[in-house]
Amino acid sequence: MKLLVIGGGGREHAICQALARSAKCSELHIAPGNPGISAFGTCHKIGAEDIDGLFDLAVSLQVDLVVIGPEAPLVAGLADRLEDAGIAAFGPSAGAAQLEGSKDFARQVCEKMNVPQPHFKAFTNAEDALSYAKTLDGYCVIKADGLAAGKGVVVSDSMDEAGHAIIQMLGGQFGQASASILIEERITGPEVSAFAFIDGTNAVWLASAQDHKRAFDGDKGPNTGGMGAISPSPLVDDALRHKIMDDIIKPVAVAMAEAGTPYRGVLYAGLMLTEDGPKVIEFNCRFGDPEAEVILPRMESDLLDMITDLREGKLYRPTMSDDVGVTVIMATNGYPGSYEKGSIIKGLDEAASDDAVTIFHAGTALDSIGQLTASGGRVLAITALAETTDKARSKAYDAISKISWEDGFYRTDIAK
Ligand code: AMP
Ligand code: GLY
Repeated sequence: MKLLVIGGGGREHAICQALARSAKCSELHIAPGNPGISAFGTCHKIGAEDIDGLFDLAVSLQVDLVVIGPEAPLVAGLADRLEDAGIAAFGPSAGAAQLEGSKDFARQVCEKMNVPQPHFKAFTNAEDALSYAKTLDGYCVIKADGLAAGKGVVVSDSMDEAGHAIIQMLGGQFGQASASILIEERITGPEVSAFAFIDGTNAVWLASAQDHKRAFDGDKGPNTGGMGAISPSPLVDDALRHKIMDDIIKPVAVAMAEAGTPYRGVLYAGLMLTEDGPKVIEFNCRFGDPEAEVILPRMESDLLDMITDLREGKLYRPTMSDDVGVTVIMATNGYPGSYEKGSIIKGLDEAASDDAVTIFHAGTALDSIGQLTASGGRVLAITALAETTDKARSKAYDAISKISWEDGFYRTDIAK
């Protein structure tokens, strides 16, 4: 099969590695890809937001399947356009991707199906939002309804903080994405992520994972896209897995089918384990990043077979390795704030010499003389698999010790 993968981060590197393992994969194209991904196929310089450009590329390459990594093209309807033109796509339609594209939509789906979640209210008017926040003493969570590149959530302790967030967001901080906001009850508990494959109606468990969102050790510093992950999550046992599937994932799949927008693809549920059981924090309509880098190397089933079987109505639970995966992100100094691009990275071949270690490129580029440089905030994802968490951790950090990159940093306590 001739495949096109959309995206150019660590997640897409992991997706390409998994697809390339399949005997059915005869040709791989990636847009835009990156220097690490280019080992698997041809990279095309078309950004993941350029829906017209991506559509034209898929048509001109005559690919058999397009696998869409990031949320933006899914929410913008790339899967619909491809399918309408007779090109198979993996990833939900725009209607189904609303589960990530509109937080209010996701909350309403959960409400309809009695899926456990915090109390919430939606607002477009600042006065109404402020008076509701006052009833909670400002102790609440304020969320932009639409996509805001992970920056649209404020966890507030006081009326000052809540008021500021409300005024900013409804005042156009994230443009159309914050023209409507949610104010949610603040719930507490450890967070886990659950991943499932859904074929339109039915759902099967893929894996659990735990992300480390803060920039620095000890969960200090600003929120990031994720500085590392572990899979499976030590907090998710068989009983909890069944509960998540029965109480959360399956009812959502049913609701989406009933609404005429069946969900096909990977559903990522961000959950908080409260005293009353797991509750939904958010849904994402795709693999997570860095969760894909820790989950897909554990997958023993053929990803391409799974995708084609899912499309043909033959859904089955994938076989996963019993090994634990640990992924540590190396990021550029300054991330998630502003940072310099272009610093040189060396030593990756030696660092990846252990078969249990894979280095995924998240934000890299080649300079004019072919040296590997940092070109993003999150730059490398170092994944190690081993029979215990401690072994996987030490393999990941051993690999990092062999990488020389002056402008990079990483957390030393991932999976600790
Ligand atoms: P989100 O972008 O929706 O995943 O939110 C980012 C982070 O905000 C989550 O990982 C949680 O730590 C926190 N958060 C979101 N919603 C709530 C809530 N209702 N109660 C407590 N914390 C929340
Ligand atoms: N790691 C969080 C995300 O992919 O949204």
